[in-house]
Amino acid sequence: MSPRPAEGSGGELAEEVGDSLAPEGTLRGVTHAPEEASGADWRRTHTCGELCSEHVGTRVTLNGWVDSRRDHGGIYFLDLRDRYGVTQVVLREEVADTIKIGPEYVLSVRGEVASRGEANRNPGLPTGEIELLAEHVEVLSASEVPPFEVLDDLDTAIETRLRHRYVDLRRAPLQRNIAHRSRFINAMRRAFEDEGFLEIETPILTRATPEGARDYLVPSRVHAGNFYALPQSPQIFKQILMVAGFDRYFQVARCFRDEDLRADRQPEFTQLDMEMSFVEEEDVWAVWERVLARTFSESMGVELSVPFARMRYAEAMERFGTDKPDTRFGMELVCAGEWAATSSFRVFRDTVESGGRVMGLTVPGGAELSRKEIEALEAHAKEYGARGLAWWKPAADGGAGPLARFTEGDGAPLMELLGAEEGDLCVFVADRAAVVQRSLGELRVHLGRARGLVGEASWDFLWVTHFPLFEPDEESGGWTSSHHPFTAPQDWDLGGEEADPAGLASRSYDLVLNGWELGSGSVRIHRSDVQQRVFELLGISAADQELKFGFLLEALAHGAPPHAGFAVGLDRIVALSLGLENLRDTLPFPKTTSAADLMCAAPSRVTDAQLKEVHIELGAQARSACDATDGNA
Ligand code: AMO
Ligand code: AMP
Repeated sequence: MSPRPAEGSGGELAEEVGDSLAPEGTLRGVTHAPEEASGADWRRTHTCGELCSEHVGTRVTLNGWVDSRRDHGGIYFLDLRDRYGVTQVVLREEVADTIKIGPEYVLSVRGEVASRGEANRNPGLPTGEIELLAEHVEVLSASEVPPFEVLDDLDTAIETRLRHRYVDLRRAPLQRNIAHRSRFINAMRRAFEDEGFLEIETPILTRATPEGARDYLVPSRVHAGNFYALPQSPQIFKQILMVAGFDRYFQVARCFRDEDLRADRQPEFTQLDMEMSFVEEEDVWAVWERVLARTFSESMGVELSVPFARMRYAEAMERFGTDKPDTRFGMELVCAGEWAATSSFRVFRDTVESGGRVMGLTVPGGAELSRKEIEALEAHAKEYGARGLAWWKPAADGGAGPLARFTEGDGAPLMELLGAEEGDLCVFVADRAAVVQRSLGELRVHLGRARGLVGEASWDFLWVTHFPLFEPDEESGGWTSSHHPFTAPQDWDLGGEEADPAGLASRSYDLVLNGWELGSGSVRIHRSDVQQRVFELLGISAADQELKFGFLLEALAHGAPPHAGFAVGLDRIVALSLGLENLRDTLPFPKTTSAADLMCAAPSRVTDAQLKEVHIELGAQARSACDATDGNA
């Protein structure tokens, strides 16, 4: 049977497939026609979001879920819902009486489209001009009483929503988010393909990659006592693809990291991962600027301004106290070290003398804050390590607050330093540089939001560059990579034999949007001698290098081109593009903060036979934990 337009529908069923940006409410690629020879086809001729006054008088069939029902004495109304919208269906008593219909039942409704008439129109609904006068209703599937109503706004507990995710996902906001995610990722894919990139898949059953999180392990049945690791990212494989000559690679890649979860972190997440050969930083940034501009334009109609702004890591830390600054508002950190060094406030003077830092920031109009509100700010700063928050309500005559008496009656110099005016509030932290930056940086973001300084949907993308190569590893007392150990140093000689790891700058870069780290990347080490030296500085012994990375070192020794790459967290960029702060609502089946899937109850126990097959025996602790959850304790 060749596809042909639905009879009597005026050919509304678009037949060509291909343009994924189909307007909402239009079905594409449907190949059946209703009212085939058999005469009673239950299949839809239109979607529930499609019918309007043009269709009045035509006979149609809709399929969908019962959204709501209203009994108007002898005549019933029900809203039929699918992912395209909602259509009002009118059931006369004689039709309604023949069937039992409940909420979330799946129906096929055949009938004639009628005008609602001027008085009953619903301008808030795309299908608000019409209704479907049902002639025949068929229950395609009954439903148990749903665990919650399918409403746009819901205060149902998230656990209940996740457990019955198939009902939750029927809600219009989630339908919209998932559809947007699909369009967004597809636009990105097209953009990379048009830039000459090949999409290449890399293994999921692999060995550990050092991205800094714990690995998810999979025991091997065949190789007793051995384990695969699920990839934290395709990092090593994509570098090896460069060695293999695929000079432009990309992948929509699933990554797995067993780490502490938060709103912006899932244990499995998706990256748009890419790598290029024969390039430097600028080339990678230019590709991403073009790809993102096109993706935002095609999937959202937003025109981004490119090139994106750039800032060195050191400047970001100094001005914003963070390597992912939200640049939508000012309220920058100010160094008050010089003033503090000569002030009579002991805490400040001692901090400067012992090599620490004193920084402040000015909250515009903040003098209106009460003592209690300022104490709450102090508690916030303390959460991020500050020992206190000194505050001052500035005025030329010395102002008010705990710091006022240390201005010795002359507030002008400090006001000038901080760019503060009467009516503002100035807050200060004195401590080690890292603590000052972290606590004031977090306080700045908190205040920016609380005081409405963050502008409406603006897209302030920012490249942060020149990260340090290493950072101190508190656990081992040695060094760890700021990005990952494959990142090239600014100086290929790594400062020679006497290198001080603390002072080395890397060629890594992050992409930041509205205070979120969207992606990371770097120019890579393509020389095995430099790679070995970096491993050495990280304290990885020659034997361990061989064991863990021997295959990479060997590949680098077989003709590795200079290469660089980048990966964007797709869940994060999709969430931000929707104005959401939690990744959960952009994922069909997210996990909880304890990495559980509540719908299918994963992770789960397995049988003793399965454990034996993979050569695993549970220890006493695991056994008693299982017994406890089984209620056998
Ligand atoms: P990185 O580890 O910085 O770099 O990861 C890149 C981006 O992935 C996203 N991301 C996450 N999203 C959700 N949940 C998580 N748990 C999570 N962890 C990371 C972030 C982050 O910016 N191989 C390198 C990239 C490269 O050098 O090319 C890498 O994975 O948005
Ligand atoms: P104290 O002398 O400890 O009572 O502190 C006086 C004021 O200085 C209080 O507002 C404290 O919050 C603040 N303060 C104490 N230690 C610090 C610090 N390290 N940095 C900033 N403010 C501090």
